[in-house]
Amino acid sequence: MPLLVPVILGSVRSDRQGIKAARFILAKLRERGHEAVLVDPMELDLPLLDRMYKEYPKGTAPEKLERLADLYRRADGFVIVTAEYNQSIPPALKNTLDYFLEEYFWRPSTIVSYSAGRFGGVRAAIALRPVLAEMGMPSLPSILAIPSIGKALADDGSANEAWIDKSSVKFLDEFEWYAEALKAKRDAGGVPY
Ligand SMILES: Cc1cc2nc3c(=O)[nH]c(=O)nc-3n(C[C@H](O)[C@H](O)[C@H](O)COP(=O)(O)O)c2cc1C
Repeated sequence: MPLLVPVILGSVRSDRQGIKAARFILAKLRERGHEAVLVDPMELDLPLLDRMYKEYPKGTAPEKLERLADLYRRADGFVIVTAEYNQSIPPALKNTLDYFLEEYFWRPSTIVSYSAGRFGGVRAAIALRPVLAEMGMPSLPSILAIPSIGKALADDGSANEAWIDKSSVKFLDEFEWYAEALKAKRDAGGVPY
């Protein structure tokens, strides 16, 4: 079943490595026939949060927020790509996520984390989980954690190490299962609130 999957990237550094992790997972999702859409905070260039999307009177939100709201409402699940900054999540990721709330509800999320070091950003991934739960897109058991991202992934997002391709299979099998299950439930009868 083809799914619509926003891939939300969390880094805006000019030398960011995260774009490689985003390219990697976008390609894997597309290989499986899904519509994977990059949500890139560098391209969006959203200011530090003033008003959430829902705080604008209907029809008056900036065009880029309207487009994101439309994408999120149609989405079947979210892939969050996070670096680890001082053992937590990058500010650009939190800022991008905080603009929305209800638009995320009733869909699963899954985390791709990465870092320059050996732990692959898992501490940021763990810090991210309660945020995603609060946002109504609970995170799934598996985390795809990519250590030493500088050499692990090429610029085009292809993996230089075979285990990354291999791990992504189970990771996306799990994501598809939950995303399809919740899509069926949403399609069958709407949502409680
Ligand atoms: C502000 C900052 C804090 C960082 N803190 C950590 C950290 O706690 N753990 C870690 O493994 N790497 C840390 N790093 C290194 C990052 O893993 C590495 O720079 C990575 O490429 C950041 O992602 P990005 O290039 O997509 O922004 C930090 C980098 C920055 C810029």
